[in-house]
Amino acid sequence: MDAPWPKPRRDDGLWVIGHRGAAGLAPENTLASFSQAVRLGVDAVELDVHLSVDERLVVIHDERVDRTTDGNGQVTATTLAALRRLDAGHGERIPTLDEVLEAVPPRIAVNIELKGRGTAAPVARAVTGCTRPLLVSAFDHAELARFHGLFSAIPCAPLLAKWQPGVLDTARALDAWSVNLADRIANTATVTAVRESGRLCLVYTVNDAERAAALRAMGVAGVFSDFPDRLLEPAC
Ligand code: G3P
Ligand code: MG
Repeated sequence: MDAPWPKPRRDDGLWVIGHRGAAGLAPENTLASFSQAVRLGVDAVELDVHLSVDERLVVIHDERVDRTTDGNGQVTATTLAALRRLDAGHGERIPTLDEVLEAVPPRIAVNIELKGRGTAAPVARAVTGCTRPLLVSAFDHAELARFHGLFSAIPCAPLLAKWQPGVLDTARALDAWSVNLADRIANTATVTAVRESGRLCLVYTVNDAERAAALRAMGVAGVFSDFPDRLLEPAC
């Protein structure tokens, strides 16, 4: 599966990727957040996955449930059933990866970020047969390499919070589609280095329209935003 991402809605060709759905507008990584992002007309949504103790893929950012729900404890020490009982904000529940893939229209690309250790193999199984545009990314480049080893046809991307030129070798080894940089390390030099290595450059997290336009001018292909409404004209 290597379907290209959709043509960007923005005239300048910048993809707008709803970060954790539309995390600034709805409880992050919930179905309400993904629906909100889709309503706003994003080109793609990004989500984070961990494994529950019974090895189900759940969509949540942190290793613990404490910050985003009314519960506490490690995701990897909790059953899916117990995770589902938690309030993830405004009565929303922690969704499974399957539920999000089902809920987001197939024209919208989905970026699955491997947050938890051991998520590579279950994600590879979960996206088998999936025909929508996808991207799998991770800060843990070993986990990403495991994913790539299992399913090399799916575009992948190393994530980087602190600039290390070695990421370009990692990207080459993984035949990465993009290198995804934190906004604080995105500048003409780093974006150009990524592009000259033959990869796209995506940048997180961009909530300001002027910054998004400046990144596009540098050659950035897409930005992750908590407030997609700030970067997009209203969807028709
Ligand atoms: O994938 C972009 C972004 O989500 C990476 O950082 O911490 O928000 O998952 P984080
Ligand atoms: Mg993420």
